[in-house]
Amino acid sequence: MTSPAQADLVIVANRLPVDRVTAPDGSPAWRRSPGGLVTALEPVMRAEDGAWIGWPGSSDDDDFEPFVEDGLSLIPVPMSAQEVEEFYEGFSNGTLWPLYHDLVAKPEFHREWWESYVAVNQRFADKAAQVAADGATVWVQDYQLQLVPQMLRQQRPDLRIGFYLHIPFPPAELFSQLPWRRQILEGLLGADLIGFQLPGAAANFVRLVRSRVGHKTHRDTIYLPDGRPVKATAFPISIDTAGFEELARSEGVERRAKEIREALGDPRCIFLGVDRLDYTKGIYSRLRAFGELIRDGKLDLEDAVFVQVATPSRERVEQYRILRDDIERLVGGINGDHGRIGRPAISYLHTSHPREEMAALYRAADIMVVTPFRDGMNLVAKEYVACRFDNDGALVLSEFAGAAAELRQAWLVNPYDIDGMKAMLLEAFAADSKERGRRMRAMRKTVLQHDVAKWAEDFLRDLEAVPEHHDKSVRR
Ligand code: ADP
Ligand code: G6P
Repeated sequence: MTSPAQADLVIVANRLPVDRVTAPDGSPAWRRSPGGLVTALEPVMRAEDGAWIGWPGSSDDDDFEPFVEDGLSLIPVPMSAQEVEEFYEGFSNGTLWPLYHDLVAKPEFHREWWESYVAVNQRFADKAAQVAADGATVWVQDYQLQLVPQMLRQQRPDLRIGFYLHIPFPPAELFSQLPWRRQILEGLLGADLIGFQLPGAAANFVRLVRSRVGHKTHRDTIYLPDGRPVKATAFPISIDTAGFEELARSEGVERRAKEIREALGDPRCIFLGVDRLDYTKGIYSRLRAFGELIRDGKLDLEDAVFVQVATPSRERVEQYRILRDDIERLVGGINGDHGRIGRPAISYLHTSHPREEMAALYRAADIMVVTPFRDGMNLVAKEYVACRFDNDGALVLSEFAGAAAELRQAWLVNPYDIDGMKAMLLEAFAADSKERGRRMRAMRKTVLQHDVAKWAEDFLRDLEAVPEHHDKSVRR
């Protein structure tokens, strides 16, 4: 294999921004990868001209050479079928994902999964060590790669290493269940700066480092015995706000939004849900709440339709299969009981769409319903706000999404409380345009000021500013 050019900025993420797929005619092709991490980082990397290390999403031992796709320099890391099962579906998404999301599902702990996690993290670290130029900045992303910072520092002490966790970081009471808790904490401490979505997550981490690893800490700083300080700080992530707004303003999107409305029978109100099909997103509860409002006659089919778009996700993990079946049964039941010919109560699409179609859906939707049980940030909520340049539309948002800390003017709900959610959906439905405008204007200000470029700039500036040494005595 030829060695790729050395880069001054290297992103290391489990996924590349594109996925290797097989086109309908059997030929190989690249498709945009799912999820918020890619949405957020892609515009950053476009502006920065660095290299992106990640898995191309295939599980067939393909070993691709580094390549340039749509202007991005991509360096694939291969995974065997067994690693996909044990590292990705297993430890990453069967252990860490539910554990870090408040045990919304039950995490499983398997020693073979952990071994695979260590091995795959080592492969990513080795690749980053090979690609990073002298003194480069390496920015490691998310829960799948928490051991990479330390593994990388061991090989390349010359690097500036940042880590960003896109999902919540749990309180000590939950994290402490993890049999490998100390290794994970020490893995992360290889970074100079560790970024979290919210200040509470950063505080959870610092507290755990103090109690479980025994390092001295003060506020957001951890003092390592070897004289190196580590900072743990919140950097709430965002989107390319201006890019989304521009897309939403385009003629094609406006036309498509009208078409969508007409195809739905021109109802007074379109409710919209857009998520990866994930049990943390609260899709089942929100559809149940809507179904009950129709059943109880609080909403009429002439007035209201719910469009739920769910991107297929992690389909070989059992919890995700169960969720898909449950949702399909619920949608079938609600439509069977209450729908009329040409007028289903819920329009359910189990597909992924291009960004233009997403923008058209956001433009068409009168009420956006985002109800996760727990979510690091939730970029869908911000995308909706970015697309509402008309200062209209209502956002119903879970208190347990990171975005709720910023989008205070949304109609906030507790997704565990179905009656409360029903009441809030009705309140948003009944709100007049003055009220909707007041709230949307305030939220738009927030999302326009804090876009993803600012997020990356803040993180990279703070990463650069972490001192190489501290002069604290580390005796406790
Ligand atoms: P997560 O990262 O957990 O999936 P986020 O809400 O933070 O959740 O980010 C989801 C991203 O995926 C958003 O950028 C959203 O536009 C995109 N997305 C979600 N559902 C779809 C879909 N059906 N088709 C295309 N993109 C989608
Ligand atoms: C979330 C995670 C990302 C992940 C994405 C899609 O946004 O924070 O790390 O890439 O979901 O999930 P997937 O398992 O398909 O990569």
